[in-house]
Amino acid sequence: MKGVILAGGLGSRLRPLTSVTNKHLLPVYDKPMIYYPIECLVNAGIKEILIVTGGEHAGDFLKLLKNGKELGVNHLEYAYQEGEGGIADALRLAEDFADGDKICVILGDNIIEKNIRKAAGEFFTQKSGAKVLLKEVEDPQRFGVVALDENQKVIDIIEKPADPPSNLAVTGIYFYDADVFDMCNSLEPSARGELEITDVNNFYLKRGDLSYEILEGWWTDAGTFESLHRASKYVAESGANHAD
Ligand code: DAU
Repeated sequence: MKGVILAGGLGSRLRPLTSVTNKHLLPVYDKPMIYYPIECLVNAGIKEILIVTGGEHAGDFLKLLKNGKELGVNHLEYAYQEGEGGIADALRLAEDFADGDKICVILGDNIIEKNIRKAAGEFFTQKSGAKVLLKEVEDPQRFGVVALDENQKVIDIIEKPADPPSNLAVTGIYFYDADVFDMCNSLEPSARGELEITDVNNFYLKRGDLSYEILEGWWTDAGTFESLHRASKYVAESGANHAD
């Protein structure tokens, strides 16, 4: 399985911090943000990685990460997203890199405490489809959120619901088979003008091919001042070494 880290977008919610750099190069405690998703993949045994980024500071990723060897990456590729057309738009750029293999996709601003090796192993043996990792949150309005039926089965995923059907957010860690690219290419932009990863996940859900599990340990994004601060605090207090 190959790994894809999506690190494009404008980071406009973090201005002026992102006026002269890319959001994913900002510090989270003692490391640049982009280190965390890379370490998460490497510690799960996924060492062939593509980073999709964009904007004016894309070259700084190369300066920082070079060929990725220092972080344990065997093969590091980069792709450039024109504009900020959304997460599923950025993912489209991974099609040649994936080359028919299954992929683990991580949003570049997602940081987790524990190892995803077990989930990756389970997806490896899943015949087809996709897998998402869910986490209970206090502010579900900010995320993709699952709706459950009376048997606790996921029946829908709603992006940033005003009236959340649950407090279970879809984290930015996704596993996909090669069909994901056809799905991304068939999407229409949402009301906010983006190709939404939630639409992709709903495609898989509707065809009965989406598995899910609750992520263990803490999880946070780092795309707002509050969550960036929280990410540094969590890492400082308990580390994000993905060892277990
Ligand atoms: O963090 C998990 C959440 O991430 C999910 O629960 C949501 O369903 C999902 O839509 C996403 O929500 P956000 O609104 O937080 O996504 P954001 O626009 O902040 O983008 C997250 C990352 O995705 C960002 O750090 C880089 C990447 N991205 C985003 C866009 C819009 C790209 O690579 N290209 C893009 O055009």
